[in-house]
Amino acid sequence: MHIWDNMHAIDVSHLTKKFGALTALNDVTFSVDRGETFGFLGPNGAGKTTTIRILTGISNPTSGTASIFGHDIQKDTIAARQSMGIVSETSNVYDDLTAWQNMIFSAELYHVRRDIREEKAKELLTTFDLYERRHDKAHGFSKGMKRRLTIAMGLVNNPQVLFLDEPTSGLDVQSNLIIREVITGLIHEGVTVFLTTHNIEEANMICDRVAIINKGTIAAIDAPERLKKTIQSVQSIVVSFDHISLHQLDEVRNLSMVNDAVKEGDKFRLYTEDPATVIESVMEYAKARNLRVISISTLGPSLEDVFIKLTGLQRTGGVIHAID
Ligand SMILES: Nc1ncnc2c1ncn2[C@@H]1O[C@H](COP(=O)(O)OP(=O)(O)O)[C@@H](O)[C@H]1O
Ligand SMILES: [Mg+2]
Repeated sequence: MHIWDNMHAIDVSHLTKKFGALTALNDVTFSVDRGETFGFLGPNGAGKTTTIRILTGISNPTSGTASIFGHDIQKDTIAARQSMGIVSETSNVYDDLTAWQNMIFSAELYHVRRDIREEKAKELLTTFDLYERRHDKAHGFSKGMKRRLTIAMGLVNNPQVLFLDEPTSGLDVQSNLIIREVITGLIHEGVTVFLTTHNIEEANMICDRVAIINKGTIAAIDAPERLKKTIQSVQSIVVSFDHISLHQLDEVRNLSMVNDAVKEGDKFRLYTEDPATVIESVMEYAKARNLRVISISTLGPSLEDVFIKLTGLQRTGGVIHAID
């Protein structure tokens, strides 16, 4: 076996980044295999963007090292960046240029061969559903369209490793769908994907492994399903009734053996160590209140439960809040 076959796509060793008195990253170590989809999951301010900026050679760490396919990002920046696609958190689209001009500009920047630039631009604009709008200035594009164009620009050099900082944060449904489809396609082609997100469901859906990061420190790294297994004791019953009233949440929360309850849309999720008893008390409660149970099911822990447990964040009514 050739030595390259064993090499990780990304190797990060004891990375620390300080901004004055603030430690944004604290001794972070991990590696990402070739072809792996690796997610950095954490609340705002956790250090996700700081990590991507260091891994892509935009900013230097205070200490520690990072390498991409064996190339040290600080000492061997050009080689390390050769195989990289970078999609930063903020749009790098030029408003005064058309979608087409932005693509060609990006292709020039990445030294894409002249004879295939146009072909590549056409292919990517089509994939991201922007080809019809290619002669329009990016100025008038929606946030979702700009995001799609940014990603298209980041793919112009057929990267072997793609860095995406919050690829779908705050976008419309259609853009999210297109972006997730493209990411999934790249994963199938064997591209290594490193993405950051504060969206737990997104991490759960597309990542082979997830690092949970909070306040600059990694709290856990594992496959989503394995992370869930670590807190197998947390189970929940999800129930919906034929009508919802104001006090139901408080009432179901007070049922026997229920540790906590949250409202999730038209359903309630009741946390417990004893699902059988809770199902019984839910049925009795429904009968007493003249409610019909539309659906009821037992669920294992969600990635959100793991996230909350590891980060010490708090959940109120389904929304996660930091506690300081
Ligand atoms: N250039 C900077 N100067 C000072 N503090 C910074 C700078 N960039 C980031 N930070 C701080 O570092 C921490 C991590 O930020 P960041 O990596 O952007 O978090 P995330 O992307 O996870 O939301 C935050 O507390 C942020 O305020
Ligand atoms: Mg960020």
